[in-house]
Amino acid sequence: MNSEQARKPDLSPDTGAVDTLTRAEAEAELAALAETIARHDLAYHGDDAPLIDDAAYDRLRRRYAALATAFPELVPDDTPLGKIGAPPASGFAKIRHAVPMLSLDNAFGDEDVAEFLDRVRRFLSLPAEAAIICVAEPKIDGLSCALRYERGTLIHAATRGDGQEGEDVTANIRTIAEIPQRLRGSGFPDIVEIRGEIYLTHADFAALNARQTEIGAALFANPRNAAAGGLRQLDPSITATRPLRFFAYGWGEISEAIAESQWQAVNRFAEWGLPVNPDRILCADLPAMLAMYRDLGARRAGLGYDIDGIVYKIDPLALQVRLGFVGRAPRWAIAHKFPPEQAQTMIEGVDIQIGRTGALTPVARLRPVTVGGVVVSNATLHNEEEIARKDIRIGDRVIVQRAGDVIPQIVAVIPAGRAPDAQPFAFPETCPACGSAALRPFNPRLGRTDSVRRCTGGLACPAQAVERLKHFVSRRAMDIDGLGDRQIEALYAGGLIRTPGDIYTLPVRQRTGSIDLATREGMGEKSVENLMAAIEARREIPLSRFIHALGIRQIGEQSARLFARHYTSWVSFATATRAAARGDAHARAELTAIDGLGESAAASLMEFFAEPHNEQALAALIHDPDHCAHGIRVLDEAPPASASAISGLTLVFTGNLEAMSRDEAKARAQMLGAKVAGSVSQKTDLLIAGPKAGSKLREAEALGIRIIDEAQWLAMVGEILQ
Ligand code: IVH
Repeated sequence: MNSEQARKPDLSPDTGAVDTLTRAEAEAELAALAETIARHDLAYHGDDAPLIDDAAYDRLRRRYAALATAFPELVPDDTPLGKIGAPPASGFAKIRHAVPMLSLDNAFGDEDVAEFLDRVRRFLSLPAEAAIICVAEPKIDGLSCALRYERGTLIHAATRGDGQEGEDVTANIRTIAEIPQRLRGSGFPDIVEIRGEIYLTHADFAALNARQTEIGAALFANPRNAAAGGLRQLDPSITATRPLRFFAYGWGEISEAIAESQWQAVNRFAEWGLPVNPDRILCADLPAMLAMYRDLGARRAGLGYDIDGIVYKIDPLALQVRLGFVGRAPRWAIAHKFPPEQAQTMIEGVDIQIGRTGALTPVARLRPVTVGGVVVSNATLHNEEEIARKDIRIGDRVIVQRAGDVIPQIVAVIPAGRAPDAQPFAFPETCPACGSAALRPFNPRLGRTDSVRRCTGGLACPAQAVERLKHFVSRRAMDIDGLGDRQIEALYAGGLIRTPGDIYTLPVRQRTGSIDLATREGMGEKSVENLMAAIEARREIPLSRFIHALGIRQIGEQSARLFARHYTSWVSFATATRAAARGDAHARAELTAIDGLGESAAASLMEFFAEPHNEQALAALIHDPDHCAHGIRVLDEAPPASASAISGLTLVFTGNLEAMSRDEAKARAQMLGAKVAGSVSQKTDLLIAGPKAGSKLREAEALGIRIIDEAQWLAMVGEILQ
């Protein structure tokens, strides 16, 4: 290419509207841009001699993204630009996180932070007075996002999603000016996935809402919602009108180590041209951490963007590795939340909602009031005991509070405001949706009646069925795009779906003309087409997601993952659980021995499989050529691949351990692919016995199980990282 041809896209890429271009113009510009960008990539990475500055390079890529979105059919498959291009018609493509994106445990008071440090010391077997260095930084109230750079070039960007799988928002991220398309300098690993928070400043949020007012559009409740809406736009040119920002604070997959501490790692991000928070500090002890919390709390309103607390992270990365994760949060970090914001308003009424497990939940209808910048018009009242305890009556003046994403709550009634004729609230004893009796059964675990009243209508109750279906298709479960609460309600009311299996026969019913969704309210031709594509796209589903989607009481995402890890396939999971439900002692022992699974969750799972209606629903849902041709396929989930000596074994620890705490030993075993059980059985492969081992050691000896001591254990799992 000669310099004449290169000039236009090189130095001043056309910033005109892409929708006024003809196909031919767009095609020519795309081809020229692709060539130019490829040339700059080569100059930058291959020759280490960039021809233009980063801002100019970013403009080129953004222009390419805008054109690619407007003319997706013109983008070649082998675009040199990674995943640039139009999002698929039915929403965003999914990106599986190579390293799960987790969340943080919360601390509310100073004592919780002290306990965090103690917990860390205990886990690491450190003395109570051992110094622990932490990074303290603002907890940004935005959305987390993962940016994948390969050889310094931004390849794709994903939202957190359910932590395992997010949405591909690459085209939108490319419109954010402060996110570099290419890392600055050199010395970054070949693969580095940088994680951080997308947010909007207060000033930009105010300007955005002013614009919404001008055009008569709905206002955004808060900067976080506006940022989320901006990032999840299918049209990146709309995202480009929202001035989103980014702070880098962490990382996912990385092809080589980048630092020895959290502090240094984030400093390197800054060197590479990523925005990092200027209010980060290093703290040597608890008083320094709490001082930071108070300092930032006082400066919070003046920061110019929303924060909802301080995050403390243990600084040495070697310690982070040892500490690892528990459930969905790291043991090496904690979020110290600011106190919730409160306001006063009046209770105008109480609605009763019926959840998918039949629980009747009272919800207060409030006179709308702004709490911490968000208009609140209802608040959960939890259950009837709570209403009685707080003596909440319709017409009362109350204090409401909200903290982050949590549903607003009623803190207390203001007695002075009560009308003399206000009556205590009479909680209904029948289900408002189906008229069945609503009971508070005796709970043997608590030794008293449950505080929750439940509808006894089971599958006959439409409210439960609808809630179950909503849960089934929801983002963290089957994740069927375009099938939201409103559509489920409409399809259910129209008699088109009753159980999950009916969802998967919608495409064939639509195709054969036995139904026509396009004639239904709120569904155009295009949205029906998208919906059918989204249903087809989720016909194959990983085991853990599927178990979670079933909406079994007390079986959330985490227990679903435990099951998937343990049983690995739907057939072995269902076979074992059915056997346990029938009273098979072996199957039951195996189920209750799964580490991390509570007894009542196991009981609830067995109840589910003991109910014939549920078995019928499963038979109509899971693909089986003889019964259900239009069903789903549940994909096996292999246990974490590991070549370790203990991978796949079931271990039991007993007695004292000296080099590492029991918790660390357990976590390490799990990381290496072993299962850890609480008691010895025939399934135990290995017993690790420290000094003062008792009955478990005797049981293991009696069963002829292999027994090793702590030194042998350490040799087996490798030295602890220092
Ligand atoms: S670290 C392994 N640092 O808070 C978890 N998170 O409540 C790593 N967040 O999902 C998260 N500011 O979206 C971290 N300085 C910060 C943060 C931060 C905001 C968000 C993030 C996370 C959520 C957890």
